[in-house]
Order: sequence, then structure tokens, then C-alpha cells
Amino acid sequence: MRVAFINPQGNFDNNDSHLTEHPDFGGQLVYVKEVALALGEMGIDVDIITRRIIDENWPEFSEDVESYHGSQNVRIIRIPFGGDKFLPKERLWPYLGKEFVKGTVDFYKKEGTKPDALTAHYGDGGLASAILSNILDVPFTFTAHSLGAQKMDKLGVNKENFDEFDKKYNFSKRIFAERIAMNRSFVNIVSTTQERFDQYSHRLYEGAVDVKDDSKFKVIPPGVNTKTFTHIPQIFDEDTENCILKYLNRDLNDDRLNLPCIVLSSRFDKKKNHKGAVLAFAKDKKLQEKANLVIILRGVENPFKDYSSLNYEEREIMDEIMTIIKEHNLYGKVSMFPINGQRQLASAYRVFSKRKSIFCLTALYEPFGLAPIEAMYAGLPVVVTKNGGTFETVEGGKYGVLVDPEDAEDIARGLNLALDNFELYRELGIKRVEEKYTWEATAKGYLEVLELALIKREKIYEAFLTGSEDHTLKEKIKNML
Ligand code: F6P
Repeated sequence: MRVAFINPQGNFDNNDSHLTEHPDFGGQLVYVKEVALALGEMGIDVDIITRRIIDENWPEFSEDVESYHGSQNVRIIRIPFGGDKFLPKERLWPYLGKEFVKGTVDFYKKEGTKPDALTAHYGDGGLASAILSNILDVPFTFTAHSLGAQKMDKLGVNKENFDEFDKKYNFSKRIFAERIAMNRSFVNIVSTTQERFDQYSHRLYEGAVDVKDDSKFKVIPPGVNTKTFTHIPQIFDEDTENCILKYLNRDLNDDRLNLPCIVLSSRFDKKKNHKGAVLAFAKDKKLQEKANLVIILRGVENPFKDYSSLNYEEREIMDEIMTIIKEHNLYGKVSMFPINGQRQLASAYRVFSKRKSIFCLTALYEPFGLAPIEAMYAGLPVVVTKNGGTFETVEGGKYGVLVDPEDAEDIARGLNLALDNFELYRELGIKRVEEKYTWEATAKGYLEVLELALIKREKIYEAFLTGSEDHTLKEKIKNML
């Protein structure tokens, strides 16, 4: 079987350049990478179809075809569209139909091959796949990763300000694309049941999909790269530890150096709500006696001295954090420093785990929350937002602590609880990942769905060709009445 992953935004390369360090290179790309590689390991031919970029500032993505991470079966195929330069995902919409779809079809025509099935990622991949699936006559699944309607709600988009927001985010195109994708897909793949019922039931998707229709949804949780995010100590952890100690020595008061830490490591994005966690720490004196606050920030050596290299939104977040630190005199209790790449991040988690530290994510809404399960497997108990997929990942609070991200007192309660029960939550977190969140299991889930899509299709064709009765089709039509 050949499966194509349709992922127009961001990009992929063998060095994982920019992975998790740019909004277009977030959790979605890690997800596509890991599922594609796991399917490759299972003997499936996989093509990741994405964009070709020829741009001196983004030099990693100019090859047309590359094999991926040493896998014989997995290729990155880069289709030129929307010019050569890097474009953020919000600017790709006009080029999807004509250029991206056409380029993809031409590529397969030229090669004389064709995928048997497609998996679409994000609204842009969904729209492109709906068209491609018609042209190539193959089924597709849709994985939204993040839906536009929820983003609009979070940003407070309404009738009055819609035009203004639409200029920047292109919501009109995104919602339209998502509606088409969720409607035409063979199945919509969601990470949690909550995602299905909470997110797809939004009024902006009314009529496009029926959340009560079991045949249209499949819950397949993502996994953790257990090799990278292992809790088992690695030789290079010593270097990471020295590096972290250097920063802790720089920022913390001497008498606080041995305290555990509360680790915040999400991308600087307003929806991640770093402010909530910092405020909770600032307001709870007991918590301050127990632990330090550590904020991991990519690319900034010492934010206490200079953070002018951050972009506008990131600077605004940092301004807020600095104001809280100043107002509550948290100097000597907070440390901020960079950690580079997934491998060093995992290593840092292990180092912090040795210090009986905990991970914290107080996002206002987290669609799934890959970062907390990575931290869990690397040995950190987690305190996570109750809003979104995290509720299910920690099974309502059984495997980690849930908090209300808009209530500083509740966040502080959760942080105290996790710190006081470090060993218990550490063990539970590791167990949870081993039992439920591996990429192999995710890939198997995809394979099952894709095989089913192909079998159903065969059956329908066969019924037409032989003139025999097709019960699946009958049931489908009956259900639609
Ligand atoms: O950060 C996680 C993530 O899934 C990305 O990888 C994805 O592209 C992104 O969210 C999109 O979010 P938004 O709704 O802000 O466009």
C-alpha cells in the first residue's frame, strides 16, 4: 500500500529544522513525521506531500524529493506552489487548488505511480485532499489538528470584527476548507472523544458533519517518541545537567538551588497562557518556598537582560511575565533559558525529574497536548489545563493533575499537589504512556482505517459491476434519510 500524507504547511527535512520552534512547525509536524515513519516501519510506502521552498532564509526545503530519516519507504515530496519563498500557513490558501493539487497529480503522473489512500492534515491539507481524492479516485481521512472555529472563539471573533481578523487569519477560507474536508473524508481522525463532540459540534460546522455518526469518526490518540522522551537516563544528560546548572546558578538565589522546579516549556503563544502559571506562582508563598519556576524559551540566552530578538507577540508575553516578576519580586525564584531541539528538551526533562520537578501547561484550551505526554514519559509529573484533550490524556486527573487555567488559586493547588506527590504521579505518568500513547499504536490505528476505506470502496464497486446487493451502501443511504 502507498499512503500519501497531504500536509501543505510547514515542512520536513532530515535535520528536523525548525520543528516545534515556529507556529507552522508545531505538534502537527511532529505527528505527521512520527506516524509516517511508524507506517514506514510496518512496510507501507509513505509520501509526505508538502511545499517546495527556495528561500535563503529557509534553505532546508528546496529538494524535490528526499528519503526521510533513513527509512526506505518514506519520502518527502515537495511540490512548488505559491512562489519560491517561505509563506506562513495563513497565506497558502489561494494556491492550494490550482497549484498544489495540480503539482501533486502531475508528480504521480510523471512517476507512473499513485497513492492508494490519502491522509489529510489541517484544513489546508483537507481541502487539497478532497479535490485530490476526486481526481485520483482514492479515499482520504482528515485530521484537523486544530480547528478554525475554536481559534476564532479564543480570539473573540464576532460579526463586528470578523473582517479585521479575516485579513490576518483567512478564517473564511479555513472554515470553508474544514467543512469540505470533514464532509468528504472517509473518516475524521480525532485524538480524543472530546475533540469529536466538543469541537466538531461547533455551529460553524453545522450541516458539514454529524458528530453523532460513529462511522464518520475514529479516535486515534497520538504517541510519544519513546526513544527520545525516555525516562531512562542517557549518557549525554550529564552535559545537559551542567548546562542547566549554569543557568540555575545564574538566575536563582543560592539557598534555592536545590529546590525542585516547575517547568514551563511550551512555545511562546498567547493561547498557551504562560501568564496563568506565573501568576499562580507569584500569588502562592507556600509554593515559592517549595519550588522554583523555570521557563524554557527557545533562542533567548538571558531574557532578564534582553529579549528583543523575540517577535511581537512573544515580546508581549514576556513583557507580561516580567511585570509579574517585578510586581511580586520573584527575582532569584525564576530562571529562564533556552533549550535547543527535542533531544535536549527530553534530556532536560530527565534532569529536572532527578530534582523532583514537575511540568506545567496552563493553556486556555489544548486540542490534544503532545508536550505533556512527552514530559510524562520523560519522568515529570504533569499539571495540565482541564480544557481540551489533556482532560482525557490524564483520564480526568488520574494520571496527572488537572487545573482551571483561568484560576490562579486552582493552578497553585494543582502545582502543590503534584510537587507533594512527585513519586506517585511520576510512576502513573510513565505507565499511562506505555499503555496508551505510542506512535506504533497510532500508525496501526491509521492503517486499520485506511484498509477499511479501501475494502468498503472495493465492495461498492464490486456491487455495481456485478449488479449484486450492497448492504453497506443501503445502510448508508438509509441512515441519511
Ligand atoms: O501547535 C500545534 C498545532 O497543531 C500546529 O502544529 C498546527 O499547525 C497548529 O496547532 C495550528 O493552530 P492554529 O489553530 O493556531 O492555526
